[in-house]
Amino acid sequence: MSKRSSFRNRFSFYLLAIGSACGLGNLWRFPYIVGENGGGAFLLLYVFLALTIGMSLLIAELMVGHYTGVSVLAAAKKVSQQTKRKSIVAFGWLSVIISVVTLAYYSVICGWVLHYLTQFLMSLFQKDSTVYLSHMSVTMLQQSGWLQFLLASVHLLISVVIVVKGLGDGVERWITSLLPVFGLLVVVLLIGSLSLESTPEVLRFLFYPDFSKLNWNSLGHAVGHVFFTLSLGFGTMVTFGSYFKKDEEHLPTMGLRVTLIDTLISIVAVLLIFPIAFSMSKQPLTDPSLLFEVLPRFLSSYKGGVIFGLTFFLCLWLAALNASLGLLETITANLVEKKPKLKRSVAASISGLTILLITVFPAFSGTIFKNFKMYGHGLIEIFDSFLINGLLPVAGLGMVIIALTGLPEKDRKDLFISQTSMTSQVMYSHWKIVLMWVLPGIIILGLALQIIGLFFR
Ligand code: PFF
Repeated sequence: MSKRSSFRNRFSFYLLAIGSACGLGNLWRFPYIVGENGGGAFLLLYVFLALTIGMSLLIAELMVGHYTGVSVLAAAKKVSQQTKRKSIVAFGWLSVIISVVTLAYYSVICGWVLHYLTQFLMSLFQKDSTVYLSHMSVTMLQQSGWLQFLLASVHLLISVVIVVKGLGDGVERWITSLLPVFGLLVVVLLIGSLSLESTPEVLRFLFYPDFSKLNWNSLGHAVGHVFFTLSLGFGTMVTFGSYFKKDEEHLPTMGLRVTLIDTLISIVAVLLIFPIAFSMSKQPLTDPSLLFEVLPRFLSSYKGGVIFGLTFFLCLWLAALNASLGLLETITANLVEKKPKLKRSVAASISGLTILLITVFPAFSGTIFKNFKMYGHGLIEIFDSFLINGLLPVAGLGMVIIALTGLPEKDRKDLFISQTSMTSQVMYSHWKIVLMWVLPGIIILGLALQIIGLFFR
């Protein structure tokens, strides 16, 4: 087995990049973030940021990987030696640390999906097919630290085994064949959900932007989520870019496609969840349990809901697994490059074990660490907020610095401008302006507003 994976073809790249981007961030995180920030105005802000700063950074990360041929840590080191700026290495480390902690926290949520999956499975053998509802509660899960830890461990173990065997093998085939099934389920659910009476109200909530509903945190939340959902700032796209063979595809076109697909899926997710949530009284729209509370209840009113739920949560878990693989692969690739004597399998196992240890904190956040609070927030919310809305944008800023200082202008241009398209000449200067000015400006403003928000709660 080679130490580095490489993409067999263009299609594999798309599968991995889209697979890394589209995960729980779209279906689970995005709806409650939109709910928390008041709907339409936030959605508009989010789409704008995804298509500007998100897409630009995605292209930049792919370019860094493609140009340097290594993962983020080694790339940051190369650039720091080249530019004689030692501090650049710190950004590489920041990305890796964020990836490790995020995967720990992500695994706990993947564990929730696994729990729902097993409950649906068990309901198949029960007389009362709606009995699963009584076991499907995120609050109950959060109060069972050991169960959360066990489920997260199973998820991590499966991820480690797949990464040890090498990316792109059987998993790729699985996901390819399940993708149409998942798409079909989502369309059926969407039709069901949009035919509910609450739909007009939801459409007003989502597409009538009321800017007074934005708060101090909204910009920071939008930036954080753009980075999280497009897997930016983690170094994942740098690793993927490094696996990519020369001149196989135009990187900006790839960036555009991945961003568009991810954004579309997020919009579909809110259109699917909100009509159901609005039609259920007392359902808070702002809670991380939103998807998990809403969907099973909706399905319970339909004949065949159990089979549907089972297939849906299976697909959701596979999507989340694919996203987790992107993170674990990145962490492993960085470790192998740092310690070249280490076998890939050993590196993946060490990474998995380290992540598992960190998983203890989010898994037991509702029990052992229940009293750990900051500004009234528990550990899992601190994880989410501090990591995704705070540190991740800073890591993104580091990527911009690496891309702008590490790649000579000529090479950047060569990689960006396609010989066959005139527009990319113009787009290149726009892209540079976004990277140099707009992205840092928005990140700094988003962080500053969140800090101000802490004093005006
Ligand atoms: N983008 C994924 C999601 O939206 O669920 C989360 C993620 C996966 C982030 C892989 C980073 C990563 F490397």
